[in-house]
Amino acid sequence: MVKCEISVINLKSISFTKRAVVFCSFFCALLLSHVPAEAAWRPIGNVTRVTRPKPNRIVMDTTSRAKVSVEFFDIDVVRIRIAPTGVFERDFSYAIDYSRDRHTPSATFTQSAREAVLKNFNGAAVTVGKTPYSVRITDESGAVVLEGDPRHPTLFDNTTGEIRTSKLRKSEVETYYGFGEKALTGMSRDGQYIVNWNTDTFAYKIGTDPIYQSIPFFYALHNGRTYGLYFNNTFRTWFDMGKTSPERFSFGADGGELDYFVFTGGKERSPKKVLQDYAKLTGTTPQPPMWALGNQQSRWSYYPESRVREIAAGFRSRKIPADVIYLDIDYMDGYRVFTWDKQRFPDPLKMITDLKNDGFKTVVIVDPGIKVAPNYSIYSEGKSEGIFVKNPDGTELNKDVWPKAAAFPDFTDKKAREWFGAQFKKHLDEGIAGFWTDMNEPATFMTERTEKPEIVYHPAKTFPLDTPHAGDGLPDDHRRYHNVYGMQMARSTFEGVKKLTPEKRPFVLTRAGFAGVQRYSAVWTGDNYASWDHLALTISMLTNLSVSGVPFVGADVGGFAEMPSGELYARWLQAAALTPFLRSHSVGWVGNKEPWAFGEDFTRINRESIELRYRFLPYLYSLFREHERTGEPVMRPLWYEFPNDKQTYLIDDEYMVGGDILVAPVVRQGMTTRGIYLPTGADWIDWWTGEKIESGKIHYLQTPIDRLPIFVRAGAVIPTQPVIQHTGEMQNAAVTLNVVAGITPGKIEKSALFQDAGEGYGYRSSEWREIRTEHRSGSLKIEPFGTFPGQKIEYIEVVGISQRPREVRVDGQIVENIEFDNSRKRLRIKIDERTREVSLVR
Ligand code: GLC
Repeated sequence: MVKCEISVINLKSISFTKRAVVFCSFFCALLLSHVPAEAAWRPIGNVTRVTRPKPNRIVMDTTSRAKVSVEFFDIDVVRIRIAPTGVFERDFSYAIDYSRDRHTPSATFTQSAREAVLKNFNGAAVTVGKTPYSVRITDESGAVVLEGDPRHPTLFDNTTGEIRTSKLRKSEVETYYGFGEKALTGMSRDGQYIVNWNTDTFAYKIGTDPIYQSIPFFYALHNGRTYGLYFNNTFRTWFDMGKTSPERFSFGADGGELDYFVFTGGKERSPKKVLQDYAKLTGTTPQPPMWALGNQQSRWSYYPESRVREIAAGFRSRKIPADVIYLDIDYMDGYRVFTWDKQRFPDPLKMITDLKNDGFKTVVIVDPGIKVAPNYSIYSEGKSEGIFVKNPDGTELNKDVWPKAAAFPDFTDKKAREWFGAQFKKHLDEGIAGFWTDMNEPATFMTERTEKPEIVYHPAKTFPLDTPHAGDGLPDDHRRYHNVYGMQMARSTFEGVKKLTPEKRPFVLTRAGFAGVQRYSAVWTGDNYASWDHLALTISMLTNLSVSGVPFVGADVGGFAEMPSGELYARWLQAAALTPFLRSHSVGWVGNKEPWAFGEDFTRINRESIELRYRFLPYLYSLFREHERTGEPVMRPLWYEFPNDKQTYLIDDEYMVGGDILVAPVVRQGMTTRGIYLPTGADWIDWWTGEKIESGKIHYLQTPIDRLPIFVRAGAVIPTQPVIQHTGEMQNAAVTLNVVAGITPGKIEKSALFQDAGEGYGYRSSEWREIRTEHRSGSLKIEPFGTFPGQKIEYIEVVGISQRPREVRVDGQIVENIEFDNSRKRLRIKIDERTREVSLVR
């Protein structure tokens, strides 16, 4: 049996699962009397009967009594469920977005003595072998997508509730990605062992696993062909991605069903198709408010009020753009959530209003632990409402967190979610703009230190495994609901805030989460460390998290724990400048980490990094719109965009922003030259110099401390704006469309800049505008769609043009009002809102 090799403590405690008890206690008791508890693995056995309850689904009885269901869940999505107990669980998952329509594909069914075949209308099929049970998924062309390893069949253990299965790898060079937030080295998870159990891991070392989030979803990529697999199980799960044997990968759980979705990747077998289908299953992040894409500043903690004002003024006086300031736990009265320390913050409304007038939004932290104190109304109300988690004996579960003994809402109970969600009213009335939900793994402190040194995975650092939860109608214990607790807290926050301020877009930032967390929240990667290794790690971490369906992601800039050097902070801010969520945050006890805290030279460099972000905001905002519609991530690993270029498969020090910008940050100390690989399948222009750089090669380019290497895709049209100090100034900033030269003759590149009010839901009806462009060699057509009076389009800038053109025409008229910069290979053309076509004659 494979066990977690990194955890010091085995998190499983051996016991019957509830289902096992209910459905086969007699059978199991019989079995148990003959088999030792640790060795009761059983195979599924032979298929004895096949029924077809729906045209696209077959269900099988087996000799082990386990039941198997095989279904075309969507056109390119196969769902397999194995219920070891012989009875399927309630078909409900916190991960699934039930608000979406799906295509129920028509399918045909045939069977023989040897096998049962469910075939989709497009030819994709699932073939189930009957003696013994086995499963193979093939694509439209008949090629195998995924098949079980006959030497390592699916097994379950009704004594412990565990389940496991193994699949054949395509080859030893098949690579794996996704798995949400992992602090493991490298881009690919090939050869790694992964555990999903949300854990508070302060100052985690690289290689620590698990950490805060659990997303049991991955991609397999081999020779440009991809599929995805989502293991729909909220228990502690594990994946052995070829670590034990390069021939197979295996995965399993401590309980529940072996319920997994295979995303075949459609005809193209592409990562994009896999993610589209995964996003259709688990949902997307709704368009964030524009301010949440701005620069954000945090510390544990800024207080008192005068210090908060000083920080805000520090940005404005130094002309360093910023939109958000965070208040960490010390704003509260003795860590009582939804209260203020009135000494430190005598008049929150006034402070928040003044900050707002200066273009700052205020975000506060909210922890799930509610201080046990009879005179604290939130606690006493929660208690009388009966929304707190209880011990198995019915008494209230109390555990130490910041305020010492605390009670915890059971976020798997609708009533508790609604109650907690309603508490945000006070803060919303004060003008708080967003909420940061922390410690929601759930994390608790150890009161008796029986183990030294303190170990990361000590069972006392969360709720006891037998703690009961409501489970929204499927009551079970913490084994089943631990991994969704944080996501349900984020949901309670998101839904509560939305209900209280329906005209606004909630902003929630969560530390813990599960698959589907993206519907409610942005995610940051928790308590990282001020080291070069941690900076380097952010790229593989954030890109893998992004392709796991969570687009709004960022790491604490500068490192949360310890003090970075000026160089490290500057490189970190540069590397993060174009990541979806940009926030500096740190512990309070190592010194100041504001962008101006490292001396004049670094202040200038840091200012430029943040300015760069603000210049690209129209592009970033449009990417979020694309995400909400299709599931496409904002930040992307190179293999995701270029799966046909194998050189990209292991690159973990470059990333894409959308499909058009490649960023190659410096993540090593003292590095003033670095190797940069530019993928084939596109032509590339250096954003700063306008030089064309050959693709398919590593280039050694100079990377001075004040330069973030950026490359743009030939043919792309990328909107930018001038530097502003905060997003409140955006409306008056005119847009430049950067047209990247070098498009292949005959090719048409389409793109769209999305504009709306940056807040509210008008964009879901008619209050939006899209500036759609069509770029052909020598010409750009511009067509606005929609009527929203968005930022004006004022310039076209051709990037990477080597000569001044002989003639420039705007809507057919030759214009002279152009500027050509030979040193940067840029041509600037003034246009206006009525311009529909710009053409160049060379
Ligand atoms: C946790 C959070 C960190 C926060 C601290 C105090 O460690 O991860 O971001 O600053 O708690 O609230």
